[in-house]
Amino acid sequence: MIDAMTGARLGSFGPGSRLGILGGGQLGRMIALAAADYGIACHVFAPEEDSPAFDVCAARTIADYRDEAALAGFAAAVDVVTLEFENVPVESLVFLEAHVPVRPGAKALAVAQDRLSEKSLARSLGAMTAEFAAVNDRASLDTAIARIGLPAVLKTTRLGYDGKGQAKIMAQGDVARALAEMNGQPAILEAFVPFEREISVIAARGSDGHFAAFDVTENEHHDHILHRSVAPADLPEALVARAVDATRAIATALDYVGVLAVEFFVIDGDVLVNEIAPRVHNSGHWTSEGAETSQFHQHVRAVCGLTLGSAKARGQATMLNLVGDEANHWEKLLAEPGSHLHLYGKGTPRPGRKMGHITRITPRA
Ligand SMILES: Nc1ncnc2c1ncn2[C@@H]1O[C@H](COP(=O)(O)OP(=O)(O)O)[C@@H](O)[C@H]1O
Ligand SMILES: [Mg+2]
Repeated sequence: MIDAMTGARLGSFGPGSRLGILGGGQLGRMIALAAADYGIACHVFAPEEDSPAFDVCAARTIADYRDEAALAGFAAAVDVVTLEFENVPVESLVFLEAHVPVRPGAKALAVAQDRLSEKSLARSLGAMTAEFAAVNDRASLDTAIARIGLPAVLKTTRLGYDGKGQAKIMAQGDVARALAEMNGQPAILEAFVPFEREISVIAARGSDGHFAAFDVTENEHHDHILHRSVAPADLPEALVARAVDATRAIATALDYVGVLAVEFFVIDGDVLVNEIAPRVHNSGHWTSEGAETSQFHQHVRAVCGLTLGSAKARGQATMLNLVGDEANHWEKLLAEPGSHLHLYGKGTPRPGRKMGHITRITPRA
């Protein structure tokens, strides 16, 4: 939409608009499917030729995220840009922002890409986190251990996912190996949190500042990969409020537009911020059938400047990821009444690869 006086694009993009998505994974695929429900067509930009989102988009660009000619062409072809992958270079977002609205923007992405920045932000807003310290070499690691103690977890500050780029340090004998696993990259040492449970808040913030959180989700990981999410989490009201308030404060501080996820550890009657994901999130997949508006529809509404939908739950939801060979049982799952199967079109399963998920909704007790 163009302002007749200034020629500038206005911030709202309804049916007939083009939404650009950086990243071509299953999250982009599900965003594109939701956008289609509103008559909004998607243009997916991803480097991999076999990106799952390409199956369901109107247009595609296959290029490196740093290819400025490709980015310029992409910006010219769409009305607004979002992302489904948080490791897009921040410079690529800055480049795009000169041409087209990008939601969430470079500032939010820069913070969420860096574990030190995201924990510092959470603390500056009054939220709790595990104790942490920056680590660049053996000396800073020794200093960090002296302050934080053991056990602890050493993580690369950037580019980690599904537990990759992390090493647990149980005792002094593990220190050299853990540091070697960082491969010389900047790292963060975190106190190991013997959490009672892990939860996440999936929420949306609109371009007008309107905020809507889904029910808090409880998450169980297997081999560092999300295995099961249950919503609502069985959590005292006070902790629900604390987690949602922290998420709102983070979204506001980042001028965030779109859906974001904040992961927390629950321990000793409190919640500690673990990670911020500047995108729709695996632990929010249950909303596709379990909420009045799915996280994908909500994200499209937010980034396109449309009214947010109701985030109210429709029951008790359980989402199970289908990792690797688990997706081979799809016919059995398809035959199960009341279960909702989603497959990502990734072809032959590989160990540890998210191939799909299944959601079951039951009435609330
Ligand atoms: N400081 C910690 N204490 C205890 N467990 C942790 C800690 N950090 C991470 N974990 C475990 O590892 C999982 C993955 O770590 P996370 O920081 O979320 O990275 P990512 O999801 O990017 O791999 C967490 O969900 C949690 O189960
Ligand atoms: Mg995580």
